[in-house]
Amino acid sequence: MVDMVSSKVSPLIQIHHATVYRGTQAVLHDLSLEIAQGCSTVILGPNGSGKSTFMKLLSRELYPVVGPDRYVRLMGKEQWNVWELRSQIGIISADMQQAYPARTTGLEIILSGFFSSMDVYDHQSISLRHRTESSEMMRRLGIAHLRDRPFGKMSTGEQRRALLGRALVHEPQILVLDEPTTGLDVQACFQYLQIIRDFIHRGGTVILVTHHVHEIPPEIDRVVLLKQGRIMEDGLKGDILNDHRLSVLFEAPVHLLHHRGWLQIVQASPG
Ligand SMILES: Nc1ncnc2c1ncn2[C@@H]1O[C@H](COP(=O)(O)OP(=O)(O)O)[C@@H](O)[C@H]1O
Ligand SMILES: [Mg+2]
Repeated sequence: MVDMVSSKVSPLIQIHHATVYRGTQAVLHDLSLEIAQGCSTVILGPNGSGKSTFMKLLSRELYPVVGPDRYVRLMGKEQWNVWELRSQIGIISADMQQAYPARTTGLEIILSGFFSSMDVYDHQSISLRHRTESSEMMRRLGIAHLRDRPFGKMSTGEQRRALLGRALVHEPQILVLDEPTTGLDVQACFQYLQIIRDFIHRGGTVILVTHHVHEIPPEIDRVVLLKQGRIMEDGLKGDILNDHRLSVLFEAPVHLLHHRGWLQIVQASPG
């Protein structure tokens, strides 16, 4: 009970002076960031800026250097049982899509979300409720027809939506997405972004990690610019994003276009 109360008042994510090494190289440098519940945020940065490393910090695949006043707290807690954590945070990365077993069927993929596993095993007791909720999730995401199709025989967009269903079936508070629309065609991209928007409208918090400004839904207001493992800017989308900052971030002259809350960048014209 005490825990429930504290998780209500604590920010969802508190990262304090986190330095993270990969091999012998420091990839995130003394990074501090807080994200409150309901404050969907995009972490925007070029290739190699440390976005995927940041994600692995949230999923507990990587840990920061230990030191006084250095920590990563999720929902107010530093120590997590990994299974418990996975039921609260839905994480979808390209690594996961690559690693997913090809023979697992659509329904099994969604069901596996209840067990935070990659596949459904015999020892996991699947209840009628699990089946009903999985079917309902497939219907909601427009993938009911993929019920019996193996993962390896789905299109990229279908695979991505199935993995999203797997992450959402547990009704997580946070959804963490790494370049979610990479490789999707226009229709699949729009469908996917709509599901993310629905999640935000239902009260969920999205952490989007990307270098594509076109996949930032209008609902995401906060932008953190990440460059060479450091936070370059952190603030409201309307205040932070402009031609100059994005050109510095991406080390290329760019021009930002706006359309009804959506963004796109193009090459800036010379002069
Ligand atoms: N397994 C690894 N071992 C050593 N260095 C790595 C490893 N993975 C990533 N890096 C390095 O860490 C930096 C940040 O990588 P990453 O977090 O994947 O960036 P991004 O997702 O923004 O492209 C890069 O310089 C990359 O070369
Ligand atoms: Mg990456």
